[in-house]
Amino acid sequence: MIPDQAESLRRKLEINNVKQAKTISFVSGKGGVGKSNIAVNFSLELCNQGQKVLLVDLDIGMGNVDILLGLQAKKTIVDMLEDELPIYDIMELGPNNLHYIAGGSGLSTLFSINQQKMDYFLMQYNEVIKKYDYIIFDMGAGATHGSIDFVLASDECIVITTPEPTSITDAYSMIKFIIGFKKTMPIYVVLNRSDNVKKGLMTVNRFQKLIAQFLGVNIKFLGILPEDKAVTSAVIRQAPFAIQNNKSNIAKSIKQLTENYRDRQVAINVKESSTFVERLKGLLGNRGR
Ligand SMILES: Nc1ncnc2c1ncn2[C@@H]1O[C@H](COP(=O)(O)OP(=O)(O)OP(=O)(O)O)[C@@H](O)[C@H]1O
Ligand SMILES: [Mg+2]
Repeated sequence: MIPDQAESLRRKLEINNVKQAKTISFVSGKGGVGKSNIAVNFSLELCNQGQKVLLVDLDIGMGNVDILLGLQAKKTIVDMLEDELPIYDIMELGPNNLHYIAGGSGLSTLFSINQQKMDYFLMQYNEVIKKYDYIIFDMGAGATHGSIDFVLASDECIVITTPEPTSITDAYSMIKFIIGFKKTMPIYVVLNRSDNVKKGLMTVNRFQKLIAQFLGVNIKFLGILPEDKAVTSAVIRQAPFAIQNNKSNIAKSIKQLTENYRDRQVAINVKESSTFVERLKGLLGNRGR
């Protein structure tokens, strides 16, 4: 085999066989429904269960994940792009051996950057994708231009909503938006701040039926999280409840939710034929970047 062919084959095999992190986007329609708190504590719980996790704050400009983790990020994605830094230079080590990347500010959105910077981002991202079991994106609320590509390129989305009708309506619109681009996207729903499990289950059930009837897709129910003062006190103390207050109702529920998620993973075990980076490149190309 001539060297060029061999190299090309090696690359193809690498893409198909080498373990890739599962990329999960945490999204919502309405803002302030608990995405960041859930993404942080879900990530910590995954670490607790022996998984290697990288949490990325993609809510550029508005990100607060470092505050929730009680860390101060020295460098951010914005620094990485501006100064062409290696991705490892912007990583922080959080509790439970959670690795974390801050979004930073100064860009209204990461997603309007030029082709050269996006190529750099993807190259750096490719560096780390084989080193983790999960890469979790904490997204901003709603679907901003460009950020949707990161959501669509993810392996799965977790949609957070509260029981409030406005939050449910916005979650519906967000799901409609996502599946308008990618009908096969696996979508999970989490009901946060529910003070009544029975009512919460009914709400989720109605929501699932509505989505199935009008959008023609089945979304999976991942869990209900209670309203709990431990969340606010964790935010104030800058100490994640999954660690500092692991006996609280919310911490127990997050643990259960993470276990539910992993059990489903074992049961489904779907293998995507393309990688996150390949999908993102395709999406950006289609939009004529
Ligand atoms: N289960 C809960 N019980 C009590 N309070 C909660 C709960 N979940 C979230 N909160 C409150 O809601 C606030 C907003 O949460 P968070 O920042 O995680 O939302 P978000 O969806 O990431 O917001 P944004 O859209 O601005 O990124 C928290 O500071 C906390 O006070
Ligand atoms: Mg947030």
